[in-house]
Amino acid sequence: MSVAPRRPAVLGSRSSVLSRNPNRGLQPAASVKPQPRPEGRGSVPLRTKNLSPVVASGALDALPRLWRPEWRAAALIADRRVLRLHGPSILRRLARCAPVVRVFSFPPGERSKTREMKAALEDRLLRARLGRDTCVVALGGGVALDLAGFVAATYLRGVPSIYVPTTLLAQIDAAVGGKTGVDVPGGKNLVGAFHFPAAVLIDPRFLRTLPPVEWRCGLAEMVKHAVIGDARLFAVLERSALRLRRPHALDADLLLAALRVKLEVVRRDPFEAGLRAVLNFGHTIAHALESASGHRVPHGLAVAVGMVVEADVAVARGILARAARDRLVALHGRLGLPTFDPTPFARLAPFLAVDKKNRAGALHVALPGALGTAIRARRDWTGPVSLAELRTAWNRRASSGGSAAGVPA
Ligand SMILES: NC(=O)c1ccc[n+]([C@@H]2O[C@H](COP(=O)([O-])OP(=O)(O)OC[C@H]3O[C@@H](n4cnc5c(N)ncnc54)[C@H](O)[C@@H]3O)[C@@H](O)[C@H]2O)c1
Ligand SMILES: [Zn+2]
Repeated sequence: MSVAPRRPAVLGSRSSVLSRNPNRGLQPAASVKPQPRPEGRGSVPLRTKNLSPVVASGALDALPRLWRPEWRAAALIADRRVLRLHGPSILRRLARCAPVVRVFSFPPGERSKTREMKAALEDRLLRARLGRDTCVVALGGGVALDLAGFVAATYLRGVPSIYVPTTLLAQIDAAVGGKTGVDVPGGKNLVGAFHFPAAVLIDPRFLRTLPPVEWRCGLAEMVKHAVIGDARLFAVLERSALRLRRPHALDADLLLAALRVKLEVVRRDPFEAGLRAVLNFGHTIAHALESASGHRVPHGLAVAVGMVVEADVAVARGILARAARDRLVALHGRLGLPTFDPTPFARLAPFLAVDKKNRAGALHVALPGALGTAIRARRDWTGPVSLAELRTAWNRRASSGGSAAGVPA
């Protein structure tokens, strides 16, 4: 589709908007200074950009103001389900931003997050003769953002991107932080790049159409952010758990609280030189479970199981109080999140061996200390854990009952 341009107003490269009240429109908040890339991770210093997303009911209205005149083409990349549900509203705005707007869709689901799908999208962008004046606009959940973001990172050696996350998980996690990538047969997210989007537009109203299982996936990442960085958020989740069980347009306060944990971690460690590994709480187990299940267990539910198993390891190590772990398990129950999965541990083991946090062949796991404190710890954000410890915790959970991943609450 090609449409006539209307010259947009342009904001500076450090535009940053965080709105407390989604109904009051956009309000500026503190912007985050670009961070230098740490030495030794690449020869060319890159800068992170725009760590502050626009969070507002009607966030898409900011698109024409954020669009830069040098972006002559928009490549909208979305999965087919999200494109059908929410494509028209963003296409209307894009038509006011760029002379050329093209749409590229792919089948929904984690199985599309592959090298092959990335290559197919790249070929389609090339066939559409999209040049370096293209901005990739990623619309959808974490899969669309990771995949389209990775396309943007390497297409013609890199073009800008804008993220419009439409799942709770993507709004509080995947959309911010600049990690892009795909899954490969050997494991999750093993091939990718850091590529920070030029803007992130978060509209809680997209969440109204979320299927309940995807909503629960987002709640799991929200619990993770509370455990690692915000004890108050954890208590709010405990109090509001029953109300939170059904998908709705999430209160801006809750969304922002969860988002702030991620933003703080990414601001302090944009390229995962250390601290950022705390965001991986629950993810060593989760990534192995997702891969071992052939992606039948969705990411968020795998994270829910992973958090409980890894918390059990932390309790066994004396790092986490038993009472804190019990509160986590109880919160899972109230939110309808799983605490175990019946997959035999032996199926997870090969995928654990390729976890990105491993060092010198040893497993490293992000184990939480007291609730809400991990991001304030000075060091040791991950620690070596043996396969046997994980196996013991996994098997104990499997035999202790509770609800299993993938089983509707
Ligand atoms: N890059 C990062 O920092 C980061 C962080 C966390 C997770 N992730 C990745 O994100 C992925 C998981 O993301 P996800 O859970 O959003 O999955 P997803 O993108 O597959 O979306 C889940 C499903 O919800 C549908 N959907 C999306 N928005 C909808 C809406 N508003 N209404 C109705 N249906 C909608 C999609 O079509 C899809 O079927 C994983 O691959 C994970 O590795 C990345
Ligand atoms: Zn995650």
